[in-house]
Amino acid sequence: MFDAVSLATRGSARVLVLAHFKGEKLDTASRKLDPTGHAACAAERPEATGELGVIVEAFPEKGHDRILVVGLGDKDGFKPGHLRTAAGALARALSKAKADSAELALHPALTKLPKSAKIDLHACGCAMGEGFGIAAWNYDSLRGSATTRKDRTKLALHCDDPKFRAGITRGLGLAEGCNTARTLSQTPPNIATPAWLASEAKKMARKHGLKCTVYQGKQLEDHKFTGLINVGKASENKPCMIRLEYTPARGKSKDPVVLVGKTMTYDSGGLSIKVNNGMKGMKRDKDGGCAVFGAMQAIATTIKPNRPVVALLMCAENSISDEAYRPDDVIEFRNGVTVEVTNTDAEGRLVLADGLCWACEKESPAAIIDMATLTGGVVVALGSTYAGMWCDDDDLRAKIDAAAKVTDERVWRLPHHPEYRNMMKSSIADIVNSAPVREAHPIQGAAFLSYFVQDGIPWAHIDIAGTHATDKDNGPFIAGPTGYGARLLAETIERI
Ligand code: BES
Ligand code: ZN
Ligand code: ZN
Repeated sequence: MFDAVSLATRGSARVLVLAHFKGEKLDTASRKLDPTGHAACAAERPEATGELGVIVEAFPEKGHDRILVVGLGDKDGFKPGHLRTAAGALARALSKAKADSAELALHPALTKLPKSAKIDLHACGCAMGEGFGIAAWNYDSLRGSATTRKDRTKLALHCDDPKFRAGITRGLGLAEGCNTARTLSQTPPNIATPAWLASEAKKMARKHGLKCTVYQGKQLEDHKFTGLINVGKASENKPCMIRLEYTPARGKSKDPVVLVGKTMTYDSGGLSIKVNNGMKGMKRDKDGGCAVFGAMQAIATTIKPNRPVVALLMCAENSISDEAYRPDDVIEFRNGVTVEVTNTDAEGRLVLADGLCWACEKESPAAIIDMATLTGGVVVALGSTYAGMWCDDDDLRAKIDAAAKVTDERVWRLPHHPEYRNMMKSSIADIVNSAPVREAHPIQGAAFLSYFVQDGIPWAHIDIAGTHATDKDNGPFIAGPTGYGARLLAETIERI
């Protein structure tokens, strides 16, 4: 695919992109952009169904080298988010045609929507920018001498509608955050250690004007980061907490929103080792933290909210050695809660507990959102269609729901209840990290975490174990990491 996608400020493009809805001819305004009439003819060919993402090509003898007419699907029920899929299809077609520039003229077709559909050209441009940016992602830095590398070109997008243009700029910025999360996710565990993530975070912070502090070694002891110390102690790749801070130009005095990410650089299960092929893919057990990382980048470059945002990445490798923490250990957290370890594979909640305690005690948070590949159980419950969300604060939940509608990163609410908290009670300590029963597994995780959040602080827990990666191509995404959560968190922050 492309090396980079950008929005051009001047010049002209070699390829023109027009659009039509399902079963419709090219509208008059779009026709005017191709006086040769080739595009209008192409849009009437039998294969030009107008289905979402279906593209037909025309080659006019003058004007542009090539015209692509893309289908936008059904006019009824059209949503700006559909343009992410259209953009994915266009990016593939443009890459195949070795195009280096494309004039996006979808707004004529889009403004033909009925008034009741209230078309928002900025939102359309944003989805388009996201789609192009997401589709352009690739990860081939680890290909060696046995692979012939593909030549990658840059793509410049042109557009003369000011609202659509502004949307494209925003969408490309959000896509970059998402792609950063995907690149980190894809990086193998022998490279992406906690220390490596810390150095990447420092680089990103320096580039985009964020503050970055890394807590490691003795500092973890000083601040009583019990989860990080215990989960991380069997690995030679030592644990750390990465704290990123965004400070707005205006609104500095507001309380921050705190984002906490499970960042397990590898989850072998520890002494409760994962069996069969359960370990494969556990390099992606850092994807909650990767999403938070990507969101912070998009917040700094694109969203620029009038409220401080703090990110806490809880980084460790869950490994095995004679020093490993064990089932039967009892550990005490900084808020005084004691935990009997019953399963070392339920490690994510232990490192998140440190982050939640820290957020409540040290950051004076307006709200806390944690994101984690926490449980296999949420995959059983919701598959890869929805992430599980636990949030009893109506206001915060409404904001996450609204953001999810825009980014198409779906969340489904699951419950908190005192009965689930009781399930986590231990016979010798306060709580266990994994209850002896298999019931309500993903909810057990949320119930465990609730012991580390102070009453009255709006809090959401989002379990992304089913949505952080995909095994098949889907819209602008190829099989692999989805960067789920980076755009969702950035859009949510804008609404708080
Ligand atoms: N990292 C896993 C959860 C996971 C599973 C993430 C599949 C991505 C895909 C987590 O640490 C884990 O092992 N959870 C256990 C919890 C159990 C031991 C209480 C699980 O879900 O089985
Ligand atoms: Zn685990
Ligand atoms: Zn895990």
